Amino acid sequence: MYRLGVLLSGRGSNFKNILNSIKSGFIKNAEIVVVISNKADANGLNIAKENKIDAYFIDPNGKNREDYDKEVVAKLKDYRVDFVILAGYMRILSSYFIRSFENRILNIHPALLPSFKGLHAQMQALKKGVKFAGATVHFVTEELDDGPIIVQSIVPVFDNDDEESLSARILKTEHKIYPLAVKLLCEDKLLVENGRVKIKNAEVPDENFFITNPLIGGEDGI
Ligand code: GAR
Repeated sequence: MYRLGVLLSGRGSNFKNILNSIKSGFIKNAEIVVVISNKADANGLNIAKENKIDAYFIDPNGKNREDYDKEVVAKLKDYRVDFVILAGYMRILSSYFIRSFENRILNIHPALLPSFKGLHAQMQALKKGVKFAGATVHFVTEELDDGPIIVQSIVPVFDNDDEESLSARILKTEHKIYPLAVKLLCEDKLLVENGRVKIKNAEVPDENFFITNPLIGGEDGI
């Protein structure tokens, strides 16, 4: 059984979705053992408590990045965490953190990386006038919003979209791809070779793949 630690800063919908995917049996071989936030009022902490998962606010105030991360890493180690799942964690990780869990940290970003890294990715996409947007789950490396890509989803961008409508459409697909990535991770199916993730024993898609792929979200969501 793999032990997962979740880091979050806010709403916690991705965390909740992963938790539900474990409860439903979609993700096997994993349990969320601890949730940590850098924000005292993060709703994700409440979700953890409601589900009887140990949850901590670790206050970043007055600490430099590495000292703060040392506290977080120590807590994750206390819980013997195997994998760290970043679920809307709005802090840059120090090299100390990344080295402590090398190749064992996952992140979700609301854009088709490597486009639109950083904050307000959905707004950046709108400003560029792209016709498709999406979300990416990737392994975390020392570069911001970089690292080997595990799964992506795509959604159309419509003329009348604003940040809220596009974010909502992307979020629906985040809730599909993050559980899928965690499932593959916990089934030991992810192989990283030369910076590319390959999925062990994945079926080669046929020509209907792009019509039937559930990771492509239309106006009605998926
Ligand atoms: C999600 O849209 C996630 O992709 C984004 O924050 C939101 C968190 O929502 N993460 C980032 O922008 C990280 N760079 P949630 O708290 O409801 O899961």
